[in-house]
Amino acid sequence: MIDLRHLTKQFTTDDPPVVDDISLSIARGETFVLLGASGCGKTTLLRMINRLIDPTRGEVRINGRDVRSVPGPVLRRGIGFVRQDIGLFPHLSVQENIAIVPRLLGWPARRRQERAYELLSLLGLDPDAYASRYPSGLSGGQQQRVAIARALAADPPILLMDEPFAALDAILRDQLQLELLRIRAAVAKTIVFVTHDIFEAFRLGDRIAVMRDGRIDQVGAARELLGSPATPFVEAMMARASAQAALPDAGERSAG
Ligand SMILES: Nc1ncnc2c1ncn2[C@@H]1O[C@H](COP(=O)(O)OP(=O)(O)OP(=O)(O)O)[C@@H](O)[C@H]1O
Ligand SMILES: [Mg+2]
Repeated sequence: MIDLRHLTKQFTTDDPPVVDDISLSIARGETFVLLGASGCGKTTLLRMINRLIDPTRGEVRINGRDVRSVPGPVLRRGIGFVRQDIGLFPHLSVQENIAIVPRLLGWPARRRQERAYELLSLLGLDPDAYASRYPSGLSGGQQQRVAIARALAADPPILLMDEPFAALDAILRDQLQLELLRIRAAVAKTIVFVTHDIFEAFRLGDRIAVMRDGRIDQVGAARELLGSPATPFVEAMMARASAQAALPDAGERSAG
């Protein structure tokens, strides 16, 4: 469904590419996790999928079609995006934030409101209490839920999620991970999910791409990464995760 071919982004000619010749295919309905340390190019890769960043070389195809053949704004109406910085509009209410894409698509007001209420309920926020609030009146976790609702609003087949739970405390993160699993079971989506948390990757990902310095060391299901790591880097990462998982106290400390 999503094909990356030799995808490369070099912001400045003096520096090495931030995303360096990445080719991979993401299947319809798959939850595909990009896992890697800060600065390895995850956000840049994600933003090339919905054309917020143009590649230096290579291409992105969705259902066989080069994304450059579709105007960026039109493309993005069909791809839900949860930004790393949440990015709710402060001057719009919760309901208006959620309804941005439906509004662009010309949905009547009544239908927009119904959809916003439905999504708030799905994400565990009482619509009567929250729909007319402004983002400044919400906690970080509540804002994050609204950002997820906004991404889901027009029921796009593809969802891009850039470290959506990274800023949350461990309990809330756990809760929202479960909610995402529940949502995914209810509404079939192709999800590209960025994280630097290996346990989150294991929990959510059908497959995981381990990224390092703009390249991918290995793509595979958790058991493949654990059972047959392709590089010393992946091997060391899996060894650390296994050690942490065996010591719940240490795991909880690092997750918090
Ligand atoms: N517009 C830009 N101009 C120049 N360099 C950039 C630009 N955007 C990102 N970079 C650089 O590209 C590299 C990768 O950035 P990116 O945001 O993709 O990383 P990331 O993996 O998402 O990191 P994090 O986990 O911290 O969000 C970084 O070194 C960053 O400084
Ligand atoms: Mg990022």
